[in-house]
Amino acid sequence: MEGNSMRDPENPVAGTRLPRDFVWGVSTSSYQIEGAAQDDGRRPSIWDLYSKVPGHVANGDTGDIACDHYHRYREDIGLMHRIGVGAYRFSVAWPRVLPDGRGISNEAGLGFYDRLIDGLLAVGIEPWLCLYHWDLPQALQEEGGWQNRAIVDWYAAYAALVAKRYGDRVRHFVTFNEPSVFSLFGYGLAWHPPGKKDPAALHQAIHHINLAHGAGVDAIRAEVPRALIGCIHNVQPARPLGSSPEDAAAARVLDAYWNRVFPEPQVLGHYPEPLAKLIEPYIQAGDLDRIRRPIDWFGVNHYSPIFARADVDAALGFAWADAPPTVRRSPIGWQLDPEAFRDLLVEVSRRYGLPVYVTENGAGANEAPDKSGQVLDHERISYLKAYIGALREAVGMGANVHGYFVWSLLDNFEWGAGYANRFGLVYVDYPTQRRIPKESAHWYARLINSEAMRE
Ligand code: NOJ
Repeated sequence: MEGNSMRDPENPVAGTRLPRDFVWGVSTSSYQIEGAAQDDGRRPSIWDLYSKVPGHVANGDTGDIACDHYHRYREDIGLMHRIGVGAYRFSVAWPRVLPDGRGISNEAGLGFYDRLIDGLLAVGIEPWLCLYHWDLPQALQEEGGWQNRAIVDWYAAYAALVAKRYGDRVRHFVTFNEPSVFSLFGYGLAWHPPGKKDPAALHQAIHHINLAHGAGVDAIRAEVPRALIGCIHNVQPARPLGSSPEDAAAARVLDAYWNRVFPEPQVLGHYPEPLAKLIEPYIQAGDLDRIRRPIDWFGVNHYSPIFARADVDAALGFAWADAPPTVRRSPIGWQLDPEAFRDLLVEVSRRYGLPVYVTENGAGANEAPDKSGQVLDHERISYLKAYIGALREAVGMGANVHGYFVWSLLDNFEWGAGYANRFGLVYVDYPTQRRIPKESAHWYARLINSEAMRE
């Protein structure tokens, strides 16, 4: 029903047909949902240690138990099946399958993803496997983490292990989720592990992550020739907070760190101008060719525009700013601007020339079931309607978009915000681990169904 209501007779573009192979999915990540942090030989990731330091995460929350998905994955597959998704993006926890980050693999950990993948395939859901959603093995952090160039080989060996193990059943592989977020927050702004505010460390890490991406693409391809490989980028317009030329300059710097420093070398073969000189000291002969390896698709995660302001004390050339109260904002303060989403899908398609998948989009809120036990999340539904409508418009304007994944299937550990910030289509009552599909889950199920009817 809702699918039809998006076909606005006054606006023919809103009714644009999506490509025939368009896939509707949901996304999650290992540390945010799995829990079972010490089960079956898993060793700590950087988030296990970081989240336990007071002050790092709201309410002192950690991912120790999270949604207990490690034990409840069958129920979670059942939820996805009922929603009717065609694809599920999840991430493998590196410290679960290689507890020390390299060397001896952990059969029990590997077995978990076998069961998950088999369970998905059994109900017709395509697994999209992401190799890195921020939970670096702590053992590798102790050797310098992303600052140590040797991590390129460690990552490639991990990618080869995973590709070899699951490549008979998994076709879509993701090298990294949002490299600019974990690099900038981890090494530049000290909001994520390893908690550094060090521009040189950031530039070094950026280059090594890019090299690891290239090495990972080659490693996956060598194991799984039919693999469809991509990297997932958070693409969000970086806007100046005020109208001064200084704020405009700060926004340009943030744009380079946030939107360009990974996709440009990976797809176009060069670093963006404002950062190229800063990264140069870490570049060795042949590196740019090692980074720019052929890939099959481009992942876009998008929620809202972001803001920067000038600050003479900011070592990186910008200060992060909250969305001003003058703009339309979501319950968690993020700017609502579906037109920006539409325009960036058109721009990303044109600029990078690859099929685009929206691998995350969704709305956060601090919600609870009502007296009848239902979660009537109308704001999330309005958000999804507006953003999927914008996607459809983008396709009408020529964007080459082939899929859309809601973040997230379940409420989960939202990094520094802990569990207070809920993004799920399904509510998780953490004390009991009971799952309650929200109104948005029913809405998304109807949308997917009505899209299937249009075929
Ligand atoms: C981006 C990240 O990939 C995901 O881990 C996070 O929970 C969502 N956005 C929402 O902030």
